[in-house]
Amino acid sequence: MADPLAGKRILLGVSASIAAFKAVALASDLIKTGASVDVVMTPNATRFVAPLSFEAITHRPVLTDLFDPAAGSIAHVSLGVDTDAFVVAPATADCIAGLALGLAHDALLATALCTRAPTLVAPAMETLMLEHPATQQNLETLRQRGVTIVEPAAGRLASGRVGRGRMAEPADIIDVLRAKIGRPADLAGRTIVVTAGGTQEPIDPVRHIGNRSSGKMGYAIATAARDRGARVILISAPATVPPPSGVELRPVITALEMKAAVEDAVQGADALIMAAAVADFRVASRAEQKIKRTGEELTLHLIPNPDIVAGIRSDTLVKVGFAAETSDLLAHAREKLIRKGLDLIAANDVTAPGSGFGGDTNQLVLIDRRGTEVLPLLSKREAADRVLDRVCSLLAERKASLPLDATQNG
Ligand code: CTP
Repeated sequence: MADPLAGKRILLGVSASIAAFKAVALASDLIKTGASVDVVMTPNATRFVAPLSFEAITHRPVLTDLFDPAAGSIAHVSLGVDTDAFVVAPATADCIAGLALGLAHDALLATALCTRAPTLVAPAMETLMLEHPATQQNLETLRQRGVTIVEPAAGRLASGRVGRGRMAEPADIIDVLRAKIGRPADLAGRTIVVTAGGTQEPIDPVRHIGNRSSGKMGYAIATAARDRGARVILISAPATVPPPSGVELRPVITALEMKAAVEDAVQGADALIMAAAVADFRVASRAEQKIKRTGEELTLHLIPNPDIVAGIRSDTLVKVGFAAETSDLLAHAREKLIRKGLDLIAANDVTAPGSGFGGDTNQLVLIDRRGTEVLPLLSKREAADRVLDRVCSLLAERKASLPLDATQNG
């Protein structure tokens, strides 16, 4: 499946901040998604980055001058109208004030007034300017108008001071854009609980029993569900990659912590997707102090952890499990589907090329009570969307088969 932004027309507005150089990377990353990108710059932005930099990447003329006869007298109107999303990055305090007031004295602001497309604003400025009540009020005005503010991060600023005001990273801006326009919002209004990562079971204060889960598959599902409009509660055991933005993150370490978090999160949820690798055993009694080397053998007494997903009983919740197997994939997965009371299980052979731990691809077999679908080798994001396609169908079937009084409440 193509990137959700493929084929979209994105208008990038660049105002006069040192972060304008990051807008070049943003334009380049947007092009890589398959989107087409037009750029409009304020005159002062061209003092930081030449329009030619953007033209070289986008292969389109850049609008910088409202009164440039070569650009056509209504370039700002056609650019504003013919776009699927308007992304202002970086947005200076001055630009944000202009957007909030509806000023139109430069090409960027005039174009903004002509667009009705979803708009994202990524502020970039000194902390003092960002935190000034005037800027905060302008940002609030934009939010109330439905503009999405991609919050700036903390870090070293142009002044050398450290504080909030650095423009969000291009990858984060693109993530937010995907969430806003990338897909039909077929999970809007749904709450999806996703578990990810590998639980760790402590042996003593410095050691644990762990597993090789990277968290990537669960995070891809959380990201995809977010992009399809769901409210996502991500219960994450330790992982090797950063969690996605725009989800409710509930970090846990052990299987018992994950169990408690899942039991809490599924109240009122529509689906539970258990992508976490949960340790089947924990140490019976964790040592209070670091266990010292004695030269003797050490025996750990392990006791079973509860099966989290099997313990969740609900008529309305769609339950999806994962099965990472090294042999007899289908037989093991079918047995788990029944034993754990799942609606769907996504099985993969972790010894197959491209499907091992930590990679960016996966080859899943989706098994439900009706049958088996073998998916091709896909990126984890694409595989996540295929799992969610099935979750959407299961949710629709569930609603259709519920008694009338239950559907009325939901
Ligand atoms: N799972 C769970 N609680 C556990 C163990 C696993 O909820 N204590 C979930 C996993 O998140 C996954 C599914 O059950 O969605 C299958 O996990 P897996 O480890 O393959 O199953 P086990 O029952 O542990 O079987 P085995 O380790 O014997 O293969």
